[in-house]
Amino acid sequence: MTKRLVVLAGARPNFMKVAPLMAAIAEDREFENILIHTGQHYDDSMSGSFLRDLQIPPPRHHLQVGSGTHAQQTAEIMRRLEPVLIQEAPAGVIVVGDVNSTVAGALVGSKLGIPIIHAEAGLRSFDRTMPEEINRMVTDAISDLLLVTEESGRTNLLREGKDDKEIVFVGNLMVDSLRRHLEDALKSDVRARLQINEPLFGLVTLHRPANVDSAEKLSEIVEALSVIAEDLPLYWPVHPRTRTRLQTGGIQLSPRIRLLDPLSYFDFLHMQAKSHAIFTDSGGIQEESTVLGVKCLTLRDNTERPATIEYGTNRLAGTSKDSILKAWLDIRDRDLKARIPPLWDGKAGLRCHAALRHFFDMRETGRQAKHA
Ligand code: UD1
Repeated sequence: MTKRLVVLAGARPNFMKVAPLMAAIAEDREFENILIHTGQHYDDSMSGSFLRDLQIPPPRHHLQVGSGTHAQQTAEIMRRLEPVLIQEAPAGVIVVGDVNSTVAGALVGSKLGIPIIHAEAGLRSFDRTMPEEINRMVTDAISDLLLVTEESGRTNLLREGKDDKEIVFVGNLMVDSLRRHLEDALKSDVRARLQINEPLFGLVTLHRPANVDSAEKLSEIVEALSVIAEDLPLYWPVHPRTRTRLQTGGIQLSPRIRLLDPLSYFDFLHMQAKSHAIFTDSGGIQEESTVLGVKCLTLRDNTERPATIEYGTNRLAGTSKDSILKAWLDIRDRDLKARIPPLWDGKAGLRCHAALRHFFDMRETGRQAKHA
């Protein structure tokens, strides 16, 4: 019998993970794939343009939850998702990443007795002030199949008491999307469109609450970036959360830092690939820059993605003006030698599919044995 799988997505960084996963499952007639979009992100620049660029099939259900406090947003996703999961009665719910949609989906599905599959399981920053860390820990605790992107994921899950049999090292779905679309992204005319003429430039992204919600912290980071901009003109596609904070905080920017609207997937990938260096607090960009071999300073004190430092071009720069400038001087004129982390080879979707088949076969065998 065909097994129906619900794939849940809601926020910008989810889409590049569900695209290769859905494509790999779609090949298999034993599974039927249904996408549910929570609507956590709703602007075309944060959601619709990604669905188009990544050729993701239209969601069967759109929950349109929108923004809110963490409790409001998570609760609203849960409230709206429950009747849909009851109606669809899937054999499994696949959640990806660490956003509020991820934990909300895992909670609703597991309480309905539906197996939960978490792609990008086991990442830990060990910093519980990050909302994503809470989402990761809760999601993993109640997931039945844990698909990990890097070795640290398995180690963390085993330390938390998870059974090794529930963990599969599949590699990085985001890298599947990158490899699939890089050639097209390199053809993007984004630089001409935005009149970016300098051959050497840097790229900035910031949206973590710890960095942007306090005007004091955001000003300090902007001060450091303004010094760096003397060496390297900076382009900054601004997340809606950060744009509001820059405006309400009255924060002054160097004329060599140019703010842009959020970019589409192809345009942003193009800008990353052409950058001399990237300054970010995003998780996914640490991974993408590693695969592109572009220097990345992560403006945080920790990372849940240690493979990007161990193998890649990522370095932790902290969030104080001094630490950021010190890290910049350290890498400015150096080529960082990068290796690609294990299994970041563009085939994670296929391995997720194989893990899903095995998971459901084992459940079937277990059920038969029980009834024998
Ligand atoms: C969320 C994720 C974060 C991820 C990020 C990528 C959580 C806890 N956080 O953070 O892990 O890295 O997405 O962007 O799930 N807004 C818009 N248009 C939109 C979406 C949001 O204007 O389409 C504005 C709203 O003012 C909203 C704010 O951005 O209040 C923050 O959005 P929200 O979804 O709460 O969290 P992000 O900061 O995007």
